[in-house]
Amino acid sequence: MKLIHLTDLHLVPPEATLFGFDPAERLRKTVERINRDHADAELCVVTGDLTDEGDVASYGLLREVLKDMRVSTRLLLGNHDSRENFILAFPDEQRDENGFVQSVYESSVGRFIFLDTLVQGHGHGALDGGRLEWLLARLAEKPEAPAYVFAHHPLQPIGLPHFEPWNTANWRHIMRSIVAAGNVRHIFHGHVHVDVGGTWHGVPFSASRGVAHQIIPHFMRRDADFVEDAPAFDVALIENDGFLLHRLEVSDRPVVAVSAAG
Ligand SMILES: [Fe+2]
Repeated sequence: MKLIHLTDLHLVPPEATLFGFDPAERLRKTVERINRDHADAELCVVTGDLTDEGDVASYGLLREVLKDMRVSTRLLLGNHDSRENFILAFPDEQRDENGFVQSVYESSVGRFIFLDTLVQGHGHGALDGGRLEWLLARLAEKPEAPAYVFAHHPLQPIGLPHFEPWNTANWRHIMRSIVAAGNVRHIFHGHVHVDVGGTWHGVPFSASRGVAHQIIPHFMRRDADFVEDAPAFDVALIENDGFLLHRLEVSDRPVVAVSAAG
């Protein structure tokens, strides 16, 4: 099963720019690359910060760009998003019984569980208001099924001081609950704009530097330098007995030679 993981699009209204670049143009190039090389993917998941300021015009632009995407796509919310405006633009996106943009997709290799960690007006994430209980109920109702969790905010620390104030509230309790459930095979997240992966008590996680701007990871400093690298996305190849993650960047590097078929 092939899965595409995109994150942190940070779209701005048409004609506007972000830090001097056009986030929609970066997304268009990324969609073109996915259509060219990965149209066979079962699903594409975008883990939040769909827009930079959560405005209606930016969600409209997102709708327009995604019309060209040939892979079925799920959208999650990040701290830069507006739940209200997102729902206006994407009224058909599934929500849980409390109105959070949380849902389940039954894939060919297990359950994909999509979380809404947005705390409107704040940079950090949370799973309060019934969101954690919803997650744990989804994990418990099919305990034998492998589960893959998707969220904007990391549910575990990533070792960079800059992000400590912007983590998920009560992350340790959340992660202990996930570990106790015993069936989560991987957590995909966004938010951090750096390439990072690891495990927490045996549960693997990953994030890529994303489609919009990137951050130079500083392991001592609390401030952060934003840079404009090539957009990046992940391709996960998930089987019942294994998991592979490829990180790809959308660059214009010229092909310098073509190797014979191996
Ligand atoms: Fe972001």
